[in-house]
Amino acid sequence: MSETVAWLDDGSPHSPRFSDRYRSRSGGLAQAQAVFLAGCGLPEGWRGITQFTVLETGFGLGLNFLTTWAVWAADAQRCDVLHFVSVEAYPVAAMDIVRSALAPGPFKMADQPEAPLVEADLLQRLPVLARELSRVWRDPSPGLHRFNFANGRVQLTLAVGDVAAMLKRLAAEVGATGLADAVYLDGFSPALNPDMWSPDTLQAVAQLCHPGTRLASYSVAHSVRQSLTELGFRVEKHPGLPPKRQRLEAVFLPT
Ligand SMILES: C[S@@+](CC[C@H](N)C(=O)[O-])C[C@H]1O[C@@H](n2cnc3c(N)ncnc32)[C@H](O)[C@@H]1O
Repeated sequence: MSETVAWLDDGSPHSPRFSDRYRSRSGGLAQAQAVFLAGCGLPEGWRGITQFTVLETGFGLGLNFLTTWAVWAADAQRCDVLHFVSVEAYPVAAMDIVRSALAPGPFKMADQPEAPLVEADLLQRLPVLARELSRVWRDPSPGLHRFNFANGRVQLTLAVGDVAAMLKRLAAEVGATGLADAVYLDGFSPALNPDMWSPDTLQAVAQLCHPGTRLASYSVAHSVRQSLTELGFRVEKHPGLPPKRQRLEAVFLPT
């Protein structure tokens, strides 16, 4: 049984389980680019290397994955293989993934009428890639699932289950310690979805990082910054995507 997505009047996807939106009101594409890709130094970071791995907490509607894939595909200097590893406890239906990619936002903001511009060709690519994903998406059951796209040059590992447990399983079972070159922290807001940001979860994230791994999030919650700092991340706040004032960038530099 797929997770229920409620589509609000402004077109944005909402989670009845967590009472929160799946993405920024500035739009999912703008958020993926301005918060997650830029926050992790992409696309520059994957240039000149063979394989680049992104670890994400919260696959949701897959928009960060699809945007990362689209930006990678459009980059003449891309790495040979893009591996995207994402954890999700409540997978949605394929039709919601496609619907979200067809209209990634921006959504109306009374206080912020000027929406950030998104690149038209990326906007056109998203539904095409979403349909490719939807063709192999069969209500994923708990456990690890691997999907290959672009002749194996784009690999998606979907870890279905609770975040901390699945991250630990990835580290133990797959031998994936030091796996992640970039991390997107994208749970619902820490106040509504604390498990995604708990010290236990963030410690499990750190176990999958290597020195120099970049991490990005829309949340600059004090508890999140504190946990990351204690785990060996150098944490910075940067101007955020409206309506957020700030976003988070970090680098794993354990002593
Ligand atoms: C903000 S949404 C992610 C949006 C997504 N990155 C995208 O690009 O569409 C947060 C996701 O975290 C998932 N989630 C919440 N609590 C979780 C938990 N304890 N373990 C795993 N996933 C969880 C939710 O089901 C939801 O899909």
